[in-house]
Amino acid sequence: MIHDEIVPVLDFGSQTAQLICRRVREAGVFSVLVRPDITPAELSAMRPRGIILSGGPASVYDDGAPSMDPGVLEMGVPVLGICYGMQLACKAMGARVSRSDNREFGRASLDVHRRSALFEAIPERTTVWMSHGDQISDLDAAQLETLASTPTCPFAAARSREDSDRSFFGVQFHPEVTHTPHGVDILRNFLYEICGADGNWRMSEFAEAKAAEVRQQVGDKRVICGLSGGVDSSVTAALLHMAIGDRLTCVFVDNGLLRKNERGLVETTFRDHFKLDLRVVDASEAFLSDLAGVEDPQEKRRRIGSRFIDVFKESAEDIPDAHFLAQGTLYPDVIESGHGHSGHAANIKLHHNVGGLPEELGFELVEPMRELFKDEVRKLGEVLGVPDQIVWRHPFPGPGLAVRVLGEVTPDKLHVLRECDEILLEEIVAAGLYRKTSQVFAVLLPVKSVGVMGDGRTYESVVALRAVETQDFMTADWARIPYDVLARTSNRIINEVRGVNRVVYDISSKPPATIEWE
Ligand code: XMP
Repeated sequence: MIHDEIVPVLDFGSQTAQLICRRVREAGVFSVLVRPDITPAELSAMRPRGIILSGGPASVYDDGAPSMDPGVLEMGVPVLGICYGMQLACKAMGARVSRSDNREFGRASLDVHRRSALFEAIPERTTVWMSHGDQISDLDAAQLETLASTPTCPFAAARSREDSDRSFFGVQFHPEVTHTPHGVDILRNFLYEICGADGNWRMSEFAEAKAAEVRQQVGDKRVICGLSGGVDSSVTAALLHMAIGDRLTCVFVDNGLLRKNERGLVETTFRDHFKLDLRVVDASEAFLSDLAGVEDPQEKRRRIGSRFIDVFKESAEDIPDAHFLAQGTLYPDVIESGHGHSGHAANIKLHHNVGGLPEELGFELVEPMRELFKDEVRKLGEVLGVPDQIVWRHPFPGPGLAVRVLGEVTPDKLHVLRECDEILLEEIVAAGLYRKTSQVFAVLLPVKSVGVMGDGRTYESVVALRAVETQDFMTADWARIPYDVLARTSNRIINEVRGVNRVVYDISSKPPATIEWE
């Protein structure tokens, strides 16, 4: 670790463990998740300013519940335990933890009895977010004193007594979530008032630290990075380029299913601007011939996925001594796959970025952004000089326009859709709406409708416009695009794109609809 100020978080499997790190980083102090069984010696080597123990889904009395070395509490470094982390530490210090009759989930009203440094400048009564079944039932044996309570949780916050040797603070609630309005202030109090942090960590240091880590991981070997033109793979490539320069080779597969100018943007950015070794593989004919006659969306995805692996494999074989594959896996991908440090987070879904390709290809993975959230990746991209056009790019699905040409995909239909999509994006950007929306695109419907142009009757395609706002893409609402922007877009599409005589706007939310139409 090259940061001189770090507050590691022991990961006991809470879905919000990484969010704690992120809050700490937002406060200007570097933070990473570490395994719960990390030894005090390993922690000491990081020279931490403070240590945080995360929450977790287990009960401290469960068989196989994640545990920690009690020596962590004796290192002379301030420790903050959150929820399960508090219970585990308090138990180690001799307090009693018991299954509570009153499980607390959701908002609770916290009364602060003793401010101490942790609650400096926090109101005496404030709302906190609780999520626990067990709770501490007796502190006496543990040289701890209570700081705050809720109506059903007498020890909602506690600290080691001033006359004890330890500097331990524990909160039963979750300060890291936005439902705890003063949570960030409480974390900052821990960092600044208790740990004495300076708070001068910046994203540029993350870039340098990661670059150093990557250099150590890959030695003098070569790394391949599959570039898609999206923000994650682009920022990964920029970071790798900073770390190992011309030992990085990027591969961009043109599958013939890209948006207008997409390949050009990738070429200008990475070949001309970053001057990195970029190989563009034009495999559009192969992809399109695989798709001939296919209407089923899942079959399209399957064929595109398997062709992608073949093409990528073939181009990787041309790159000698490539041992590593860089991937833009982000923290939400890791946690959703249940691949967190503790292995205890609920396994929600297996993400396409985690596993799959590298096993096929026999590469070792380099995933420098596994600890980051999307908006942190954007910040990192800005620090690395990745152009705004890429850093702020809306996500684009791997199967590309194939799932936006409904039904069979043909070169003619792709051409029509590309033109419509480009006009829509131009108008959204011109209206200053690009950053206010999460994803905006056009869909070519497999129906024709009657129209009239000049004196003649037309019978042409219908295009749907889709614009959504969402935080996590799991749920989404349709964006309230102003009528005049929709009107301009519709006029331009019908006037400028041959073969389209009708434009409709999709006003479905997810659920029950999905963002894509296929
Ligand atoms: P849905 O349509 O499921 O989309 O609401 C949610 C998000 O996922 C993207 N998406 C995909 N991304 N491969 C991808 O890489 C896919 O097959 C795929 N299908 C949907 C979609 O664009 C949206 O951002």
